[in-house]
Amino acid sequence: MSLKLGILGATGKVGGELLKLLEQWSPSELDLAEPPRLFGTSRSAGKKIKFNSVKFPNTEITVQDSQPENLKGLDVLISCANGEVSEKLTPEAIRLGVKLVVDTDSFYRMDPEVPLVTVGANDEDIDWHKGIIAGPNCSTAQLIIPLKVLNDAFGIKRVVVNTYQSVSGAGKAAMDELMSQSKRVQESYEQSAGLQQIRVAEDQFAFNVIPKISKFLDNGYTKEEWKVITESRKMLHSPELKITCTAVRVPVLVGHSESINIEFLSSFNLNQVISVLKSSPEIQVWDHPEMYPMPVDAAGTNPIHVGRIRIDESAPNAINIWVVADNLLIGAALNAIRLVVKASERGKI
Ligand SMILES: NC(=O)c1ccc[n+]([C@@H]2O[C@H](COP(=O)([O-])OP(=O)(O)OC[C@H]3O[C@@H](n4cnc5c(N)ncnc54)[C@H](OP(=O)(O)O)[C@@H]3O)[C@@H](O)[C@H]2O)c1
Repeated sequence: MSLKLGILGATGKVGGELLKLLEQWSPSELDLAEPPRLFGTSRSAGKKIKFNSVKFPNTEITVQDSQPENLKGLDVLISCANGEVSEKLTPEAIRLGVKLVVDTDSFYRMDPEVPLVTVGANDEDIDWHKGIIAGPNCSTAQLIIPLKVLNDAFGIKRVVVNTYQSVSGAGKAAMDELMSQSKRVQESYEQSAGLQQIRVAEDQFAFNVIPKISKFLDNGYTKEEWKVITESRKMLHSPELKITCTAVRVPVLVGHSESINIEFLSSFNLNQVISVLKSSPEIQVWDHPEMYPMPVDAAGTNPIHVGRIRIDESAPNAINIWVVADNLLIGAALNAIRLVVKASERGKI
């Protein structure tokens, strides 16, 4: 099926990755009827973006203002702007005839009328969409695929996740802020005999570790941590899943890391765990005892990297794993494109 596809938020970090993926994607897997149509704020409207694919070589696309009427004629819209935009423009897009909106924002994720899908974990939920499919939070996306295969094999009793999240999880402005803060810390360090603190409006990204991502909720968790918990339960169809999370921002540009402790209902041996993880086409297992994945390895790559796989000797039937992935790809852009491809294959566009 040949599709007319638009990207809302095309000038942002996720939008940029989407464009790069669309340039590489083979037309036999995802056939575009025309170059993708790009939308942003009125600030970006008129900007020209180069697009070079096999079907549309050396093309220049002009970014359009995201007025609803500009979305007319599209089959699919990938929305990667923010919650306010999702709330306002998604219903408009559907009213104007867009057959599927894939939304990477959190706005629709927990809506019971909207499937929340990570391709490779719960593709079957694509089938009941009513116009919108939500993609998960970046830290949930790389967690859910290992959890899914391990849950199917051994049954999960409890999960403890600690995240180490890069600043690109908060978009382009946060990456620019980390770089500018880093320069200022360096100057301050040279001038003030080692001081590494600088004046910033919020918590300092550079040379710091921040145990708070997004705002605090009444129960003491942050919104980010609560997303990991509730989204995992929804995608695993396990509303009672015992799972807890501490989400931490670290001064990394791209690539989220997670230390995950999982207790199983049944017994297992380490070789079985490794072969179950290897059975997932989305996972790359690092099972050499002295090798371990890091964000610098994962950034720009498509797999979810799983390493440091070991028995937790403090509890029966438990393991520790270390999971690293490119948050812009696995956590947003790659999943969004895979959702379009899967929905098309399943006759749901
Ligand atoms: N970053 C991640 O790792 C990640 C992972 C999962 C999901 N997401 C979700 O993906 C979305 C985009 O994230 P990002 O990191 O790419 O953010 P970003 O770099 O800040 O980009 C935001 C994009 O949204 C556009 N935009 C903002 N307000 C708009 C409006 N009123 N109308 C139309 N376009 C508007 C911006 O356009 P201008 O350039 O014109 O301002 C820009 O293209 C967010 O909803 C985020 O929650 C991000």
